[in-house]
Amino acid sequence: MTIPHFPGPVLGIETSCDETSAAVVENGRVLSNIVSSQTDLHAQWGGVVPEAAARAHVEAILPVLVSALDRAGVAKEEVRAVAATNRPGLVGALSVGLTAAKTFAHMQRLPFVAVHHLEGHLLSVLADHPEAPFPHVALVVSGGHTELVEVVAPGDYRLLGQTLDDAAGEAFDKSARLLGLGYPGGRAIQEAARAGDAGRYPLPRGLSGDTLDFSFSGLKTAVLRLVEREGSRLRTADAAASIQEAIVGVLAERATRAAERFEATCLTLVGGVAANEALRERLKGRCERLGLRFLTPSFDLCTDNAAMIALAGSIRLARGERTSLDVDVFSNAPLPGSA
Ligand code: KG4
Ligand code: ZN
Repeated sequence: MTIPHFPGPVLGIETSCDETSAAVVENGRVLSNIVSSQTDLHAQWGGVVPEAAARAHVEAILPVLVSALDRAGVAKEEVRAVAATNRPGLVGALSVGLTAAKTFAHMQRLPFVAVHHLEGHLLSVLADHPEAPFPHVALVVSGGHTELVEVVAPGDYRLLGQTLDDAAGEAFDKSARLLGLGYPGGRAIQEAARAGDAGRYPLPRGLSGDTLDFSFSGLKTAVLRLVEREGSRLRTADAAASIQEAIVGVLAERATRAAERFEATCLTLVGGVAANEALRERLKGRCERLGLRFLTPSFDLCTDNAAMIALAGSIRLARGERTSLDVDVFSNAPLPGSA
């Protein structure tokens, strides 16, 4: 079954954290997806500084929007609807994108829909796999989230498990900082781990037992102790490989457990940490052995982007959903339809 999309070009805008992004999709096809990343700006502080993020979004939003229309070959008069992330995220950052989207919709007299950021990640697989089966189980792993979700249908999500403390991306980022590998840490750990021995430093895996939840705070403490204990003797590549193995191992084990428990035929891997090659390979292998279909977006649709927001918006708009231009931003919000 293919999912109905809104007819005509839909403009999407995403500014929930440190990426300013605008995209155009048409009938489920991504025509453009422009992402301006603030990573270099925040690297000097070793993490995202909310006020600096908001200011950088203000500077980037118009050029990014214009590039998205240009790249898509769509004039602003040809856009038929607008979608933007309004929750969850940094309120100052979200406000910039939401205000730009509302202004565009108001000026062009277009229908508008507000999108939950995680719904964007969950539906990002549809860009490359419009035939993705529903229901399926999704592992959403990003800098702010680590969740197992039953995706009953677009718009109908059930939370199966989540982290009780740090997100998986945060565990990568904080560990990388302790190893002196810089920010953002996920890719840096992946690169350093290539030459490393994952068995050298045993690290904790968080919760044990038959759970679908996660805990990464013990890992962070263990990495701190390891760095203090080993001092200049620390083998950075081995430490990176051991950290990556601790995170990837637990994510892969729990995601396949959830898929089996809910008798899913398909498992998806989405969010910024889904760009991790070791995690993609591990889940692909486990799913093959279990006879499960495994889907994950292309790399540029894993980290934050507006194409996933435009896609999610296009599905909601096709069902006749509209959001009033009075809508606000929210730093926290449950997934739509989650029980
Ligand atoms: O989805 P995303 O762009 O932003 C949030 O919604 O949080 O995810 C960003 C996170 C960061 O923590 C970053 O370190 C992580 O994704 N990440 C990776 C990789 N690329 C990005 N983690 C592990 N391996 C990677 N290759
Ligand atoms: Zn995200």
